[in-house]
Amino acid sequence: MFKFIIHGGQKLKGEVEVSGAKNALLGLLPATILADGEYSFYNSPELLDARSMIKLLENMGEEIEFSNHTIKVKNYGLKVFEAPYEFVKKMRASIYVLGPTLSRYKYAKVSMPGGCAWGPRPINLHLEAIQKLGANVEIDQGYIIAKADTLKGAKIVFNIPSVGATVNTMMAAVYAKGTTLISNAAIEPEVTAIANFLVKMGAKISGIGTKFLEIQGVDSLHSADDTVIPDRIEAGTLLIAGAITQGNVRITRCRPDHLDALLTKLTDAGFSIETGEDFVELNSSDKILPVNVETEVYPGFPTDLQAQWISLMTIADGASEVTDNIYFDRFNHVPELNRLGANIIVKGNTAIIKGVEKLKGAKVMSTDLRASASLVLAGLVAEGTTEVLRIYHLDRGYEKIELKLKKLGAEIERVQTDEF
Ligand code: EPZ
Repeated sequence: MFKFIIHGGQKLKGEVEVSGAKNALLGLLPATILADGEYSFYNSPELLDARSMIKLLENMGEEIEFSNHTIKVKNYGLKVFEAPYEFVKKMRASIYVLGPTLSRYKYAKVSMPGGCAWGPRPINLHLEAIQKLGANVEIDQGYIIAKADTLKGAKIVFNIPSVGATVNTMMAAVYAKGTTLISNAAIEPEVTAIANFLVKMGAKISGIGTKFLEIQGVDSLHSADDTVIPDRIEAGTLLIAGAITQGNVRITRCRPDHLDALLTKLTDAGFSIETGEDFVELNSSDKILPVNVETEVYPGFPTDLQAQWISLMTIADGASEVTDNIYFDRFNHVPELNRLGANIIVKGNTAIIKGVEKLKGAKVMSTDLRASASLVLAGLVAEGTTEVLRIYHLDRGYEKIELKLKKLGAEIERVQTDEF
């Protein structure tokens, strides 16, 4: 096991590069199920979740190599059409093998994903969509068993623009006979990247980047290569690291256009933001102004930056409120931040934060990926030493975040521990 030891108080300065997007890669990899051949994914981030998805696909029969940020996939037909519980319980995104496996083999057996650190995460929209395409879906002993003689195009309307359901449905529909319409589709950049990759493979998808996707079923697809888009959540996390330490940082190899909601809020909080084609520069003034945030689906403020924003607001000049409209109970980081001296109370799906003079270092525990990031951010500015335990949560979605923060001047070390 590892923990981070952080000595707070350094104003972050300098430049750091962002890695490829976890939530794009986790859709690109299962898309390789759809067609035999060889694939290369460049700018792939070295993450535990990437390794988990690779292990699942290898278990299904693919041969995969991952080195120097390139993932090479060889698919000469699956031998296993299942995603066992031991894979799915580790990573919910394993559910992404359902759509492509059903699409190509007209059969898939995938473990129901459990909850996650912050509560249930239903998949009803995924299942209703594949049923509309003609699949017969049964739940047996915790497994989804989906079968179909043929899949036929259908009109699918999501009452929630679910990222996962949009990705799964797109992949289930590419071979369906006729036209599939997905209305109220998710338009997160990662969904757009996955849709664009499917088109590279020969799929016929129009309306990409809009809430209305039209998929014309085709008879065959072929392998292709892709470069993973930059991770907007990592970029946002690093920007907030610069902000919370009132430093001056430049985040490069990112997509500023994917960060509009955050950049607006940082400007409102008193930071000066400069953007170029592939960089964002943040400069600090002497104050952090309190700014309320409500998370929304893209292009609104992302729920995946909610915890990090709360960290920033713990030392703002006044009170603020952060409401999560996507996950109503995603606040496991709050009690840990309060242990660092923050003053936060949670009412329903809103955190009410009263800015304090300073945070004080303490030992805190990670509970989930973005909560852990918020604790690291708080540790960067807390007086004294902060120890963040269970940082395997962080390694799921951030590639060597301590090296990136060190490059910006943070005093942070990854040390072995038998503390759990
Ligand atoms: C994706 O999860 C991301 N994961 C999450 O990032 C992210 O927080 C989330 O989208 C929202 O942006 C990946 O892309 C791998 P949803 P997903 O389906 O697809 C409800 C991270 O930190 N819903 O868009 O599971 C659901 O409960 C992770 O990188 C249903 O009700 O999210 C939630 O309230 C965490 N029924 C809302 O929709 C369904 O069938 C949005 O969920 C599916 C979802």
